[in-house]
Amino acid sequence: MNAMINEFSSRFGQIPEHIFFCPGRVNLIGEHIDYNGGKVMPCAISLGTYLAVAKNKDRLIRFQSLNFSEKAELRLQEGYTKTGKEWFNYPLGMINELIQDGNTISGLDMLFHGDLPIGTGLSSSASIEVLTGFALNQIFKLKISNNDIALMGKKTENEFIGLNSGIMDQFAVALGGKNKAILLDCDTLEYEYLPFETGDYILAIINSNKQRKLADSKYNERFAECGKALKALKKELSVTHLCDIDLKTFEDHRHLINDPVLDKRALHVISENFRVGEAKIALKANDLTTFGKLMYASHQSLKDWYEVSGKELDAIVEFCKTYDDCIGARMTGAGFGGCAIALVKKNKFEDFSLKITEYYNERIGYKPEIFASEIGDGVKELKQELSN
Ligand code: GLA
Repeated sequence: MNAMINEFSSRFGQIPEHIFFCPGRVNLIGEHIDYNGGKVMPCAISLGTYLAVAKNKDRLIRFQSLNFSEKAELRLQEGYTKTGKEWFNYPLGMINELIQDGNTISGLDMLFHGDLPIGTGLSSSASIEVLTGFALNQIFKLKISNNDIALMGKKTENEFIGLNSGIMDQFAVALGGKNKAILLDCDTLEYEYLPFETGDYILAIINSNKQRKLADSKYNERFAECGKALKALKKELSVTHLCDIDLKTFEDHRHLINDPVLDKRALHVISENFRVGEAKIALKANDLTTFGKLMYASHQSLKDWYEVSGKELDAIVEFCKTYDDCIGARMTGAGFGGCAIALVKKNKFEDFSLKITEYYNERIGYKPEIFASEIGDGVKELKQELSN
């Protein structure tokens, strides 16, 4: 925090008034179903994004980051549009949302710093969006709930950035809780906290270090495919989302989908939603073994039916299956590279890390990155009124 305060002061010539933190997230299970009205089970993690901020009298929004050299200085105006592919489009999109909603803000000096690996499926973009919304809400006393900040983040992602993502990531980082998984119904936004007590196990995050090239266009392609599968099923079923359909009803009606690719996509979505229900029962019964098996089944479905994995993530999960002290693993997030998660015996974590690195390096040609994750709080203020 001190380093951030010093850096802020030397860049902006004033002391930050507040420091905020917003985590990233992992999704335990329920992948690619948030935008299909399904139930998901993410947790906030201890890595995330920090923001040091103070008002300025120049009617300027200044964005700087310790992670990127690009910076921006924009006049306060009635709205903004995306400029190129720079990182500051995410906070800018949130500020645009707040202004469009009729909120009045002043000039701001903002310095961001993230310790979350960017673009690896741990929701660095939701983290910076929710962070910005939460910070402005506190600074200007806008009285917006964390739920609504999450929804604004989704709108930023969908309309400002152009990715048809669901609500899971923004919701998870806005409402996460220590050692808790959030079971979120993405249709109604009703949610409950489930205890995520892993006992002798830890949740390992394995970053494949595979660049997620084309991830956004493939993501939007899957979104469109689900829409087409739903349209076909609606010929006989009166439903709003794919996840309104249970497995038996799907079996009875899948002949309506005349395209094998769309059939596979729907099969993943509907079976994944079912697995989330099973996973909830397992967690409530503190049955990590069953939970782990459901993680493996989820990965298989994402690999074979939804086709969003890849040889890197598959190699990680294949290794996990051969390792006795790992009871479950799967890719997490959008896929096409990025991270996997695994439940590994605590006292074997080091051995696991060494062996999986060797295995992965041999097959893929470079090393993964492995860390143990803590399940932490959602967005929060770290220090207020630093200038006083
Ligand atoms: C990305 C999106 C989420 C969700 C996941 C896949 O993280 O932002 O809304 O769709 O992919 O489950």
